[in-house]
Amino acid sequence: MNFHSRSFSRLLLTCSAFGVLSAASAIKPGTPAFDGQYINPNASNVQVEWWWGQAIAEPIGNNPPAAFQFIFYQGQPIAPPGPKDPSLPEFFISINGFFSNGSQFAGTLPASSGTVSTSGQDVAGTWDGAGSFEGSADLRTFTAKFDAPALGFVGTVTLKTNANGAAHHFGCNTTSDPYFSSAVPAGAVLSDAETVLFKQLGWATTLPGAISEVNMLINGTPLKFTGQGYHDANFLPKPLNLVVSTWFFGSATVGEYDLSYVKAQAANSSKVLSTGYLAKNGVVLQNQCSVLGAKNTDVSQVTPYGLEHDAVAGVDAPTGFIIEYILRDGEHYRFNLSSIGGAQNPDQSIYHRWVGGAAGGKVGDEPQHGLTVFEWLNPGLVPYNPWEIQR
Ligand SMILES: *[C@@H]1O[C@H](CO)[C@@H](O)[C@H](O)[C@H]1NC(C)=O
Ligand SMILES: *[C@@H]1O[C@H](CO)[C@@H](O)[C@H](O)[C@H]1NC(C)=O
Ligand SMILES: *[C@@H]1O[C@H](CO)[C@@H](O)[C@H](O)[C@H]1NC(C)=O
Ligand SMILES: *[C@@H]1O[C@H](CO)[C@@H](O)[C@H](O)[C@H]1NC(C)=O
Ligand SMILES: *[C@@H]1O[C@H](CO)[C@@H](O)[C@H](O)[C@H]1NC(C)=O
Repeated sequence: MNFHSRSFSRLLLTCSAFGVLSAASAIKPGTPAFDGQYINPNASNVQVEWWWGQAIAEPIGNNPPAAFQFIFYQGQPIAPPGPKDPSLPEFFISINGFFSNGSQFAGTLPASSGTVSTSGQDVAGTWDGAGSFEGSADLRTFTAKFDAPALGFVGTVTLKTNANGAAHHFGCNTTSDPYFSSAVPAGAVLSDAETVLFKQLGWATTLPGAISEVNMLINGTPLKFTGQGYHDANFLPKPLNLVVSTWFFGSATVGEYDLSYVKAQAANSSKVLSTGYLAKNGVVLQNQCSVLGAKNTDVSQVTPYGLEHDAVAGVDAPTGFIIEYILRDGEHYRFNLSSIGGAQNPDQSIYHRWVGGAAGGKVGDEPQHGLTVFEWLNPGLVPYNPWEIQR
């Protein structure tokens, strides 16, 4: 991979830009690019790294919003323990979304390679036979291209920093590394899964809120719109299902606000990672991470609501989420992320993803409105019971 040949000058740049990386960190020494390659997934290990982006348009009538989500994967995110299945692709792009009439589409585009090269902060990903991406050096534009005509996906999705202007960020209000280590006390005794969740799973959000431009041809049908968007990237040393039993993630742009959150329970553990990000007009109001229950202010709360029997997946599922941010000074913000008619894609027992509307802001203020994509990854098949949701 190209990052093996990174120059010494870029290594120096890393040190000045991000400070000295902790010895415990799994970041490849010399990783200079915020949106670049952090670890080294390959056919002989089980590491996983991915670049996620989503574009979403105002809904028409009662249909789910037209939407396009992509993930450029290196490694398999969900896999049984033990050696990897060589029949599954090491590199692929996963696509899901909706046309404006409510019909859904999905695809898996296998690639013969998946490499990410960098030049300063500019990143370029090449997934041979499937597509490519480019992130601009100013961290304000991310362009994904798809070129798999035989599988029905050709076109371009461009995400650009929106008018709110929120900048790229790691979690935990830090610029020194992408991990959630500060959520746990130094020296805490952690299980293997907890160690990965808090200290080795990285999260780098390049576009907390974006304007999206979609110009796709999907199985011969055009999908074209200008809407909202979001882009981040994650990586970890083993498949996610071996690390977490349940995982809620979402992002939204709601008027002046850009927000995202993760609430994830480590496998076979009572420790729940809570991380939340909220910016207003680009000014960060909160960027916290913690073990759920460990503090009362500077916290975020993720509460599913509603109940729908998801007949496709054969499980009960929520229809929306209330996301609350309690700032350090006690100020309270609340957002309601709601699906449209429970529409999901993917719609699986272990993976639910919704598109819909979002409303909210500071509690007591007139609510602002926007769009959202939110998901529930549930490899532990934790049953959904709206009356027993642990806050
Ligand atoms: C794959 O990654 C391992 C580290 O997990 C490394 O030792 C090995 O050299 C890598 N192989 C290739 C072909 O890059
Ligand atoms: C919606 O549009 C898609 C793509 O053109 C088409 O295949 C599908 O049949 C349409 N669905 C409905 C419900 O009209
Ligand atoms: C959790 O515990 C169960 C029962 O001991 C075990 O079968 C499973 O592999 C564990 N899961 C993980 C991810 O460690
Ligand atoms: C981030 O941390 C700095 C101190 O390191 C603090 O001044 C600032 O208020 C924090 N911001 C948020 C949103 O927590
Ligand atoms: C959240 O929004 C949905 C859809 O608009 C609405 O039905 C529900 O009552 C709202 N819930 C709260 C607590 O505001």
